[in-house]
Amino acid sequence: MFESIPTSPVDPIFKVMAACQADLRPGKVDLGIGVIRDAQGQTPVMAAVSQAEQQLYRNQRSKAYLGPAGRLEYCQALARLLLPTLTEPDRLAVIQTPGGTGALRVAADLLNFTHPGGRLWLSDPPWVTHRAIFPAAGLQLQDYRYQHPGHSGLDFDALLADLSHVQPGDTVLLQVAGHNPTGCDLNHQQWHQLSALLAERNALPLLDLAYHGLAQSLTVDCEPLAIIAQYHSQWLLCYSCSKSFGLYNERTGALFIHTANPALTRRVQQEAVNRICANYYMPPDHGAAVVATILASKELSLRWQQELDQSRQRLQQQRQQLVQALNQRLPGQWSQLASQQGLFSYLGLSTTQLEQLAQQHGVYLGAGGRINISGLNSQNQRIVVTAISAVVRADHKQAEGV
Ligand SMILES: Cc1ncc(COP(=O)(O)O)c(C=O)c1O
Repeated sequence: MFESIPTSPVDPIFKVMAACQADLRPGKVDLGIGVIRDAQGQTPVMAAVSQAEQQLYRNQRSKAYLGPAGRLEYCQALARLLLPTLTEPDRLAVIQTPGGTGALRVAADLLNFTHPGGRLWLSDPPWVTHRAIFPAAGLQLQDYRYQHPGHSGLDFDALLADLSHVQPGDTVLLQVAGHNPTGCDLNHQQWHQLSALLAERNALPLLDLAYHGLAQSLTVDCEPLAIIAQYHSQWLLCYSCSKSFGLYNERTGALFIHTANPALTRRVQQEAVNRICANYYMPPDHGAAVVATILASKELSLRWQQELDQSRQRLQQQRQQLVQALNQRLPGQWSQLASQQGLFSYLGLSTTQLEQLAQQHGVYLGAGGRINISGLNSQNQRIVVTAISAVVRADHKQAEGV
């Protein structure tokens, strides 16, 4: 059977993870995979999550099947959290999925079932896994420019220029807050402009929110959803609880489906459920039970929000310190990083520079020089800054022919 199996590229994120694990040098620094780390480099369970788990273990009486759409109270609690001002809740369906990736894949299957081989637009650069998910479901990818070539922030004019070519029936994936990998987000005015353009072109927004609460705040980070809803009667949202609740390995996410009327929403929801039944059948329960428990309790919600606020503040501090330290070594080049937000910063490094960082300095970054900012701490910052400055300086020298 398998002698002639074709070879496809390995997921770049797991490639970096494997290379870092294989590196036995004690001072190596892992800034690749996107998990939130504390000052000691750990990714601890949030206290609100532990407390919710204790309640669950005390009260859980059964592990019977939940059904393909998952836990109702979890879906309802997320809808209240993310869309508190929604006027016609019957036009919205929420389905629990295995992580945000599961939501993206169900959305992809649903879109391909509706329009086989349809076009889906991704930011360039995208989250690398977006590039794998949609073609695997049968959709065709199209890029829209996102960041200035000099990595100096969002290139909104280029984004609008590219998206002015979308056709009716195309889907446009938009990251809502803490764009992975660039850390560059749209402001309110830009969301209005973009929403109006996509509505005029009759394109479907597919929103992806995986860093809720880690860019500006829980409230501000989901404001673009309300803007999209002002201009569009139909949109999809893929939500991930991995980072915001620290539930990475519990695979906890949701797919939101909003359409023009309640009857259509029910039909589309049923088709999404049919795609799920043909795939993983049902989502795992535990993470969703934890989130539902937290959101149902004032005390646990408050605790969770405080923990999330602390993580975000730490990210902001680490980012400012990194910019300062890099600017001291190679002045003038890094100020744009200060305006990025969320878990990542993007340096725009070449594959050769990334290899040099890993091999010569034991510093592991994601594709394109994506840095997990939370992985920086007082012990490793100097190593990272020295290594980045060295490879960037070497490149400058080579370019100047020195
Ligand atoms: C932009 C984006 N979307 C979705 C996800 C999905 O996350 P998960 O499947 O862990 O919930 C991620 C995770 O890194 C992400 O960065």
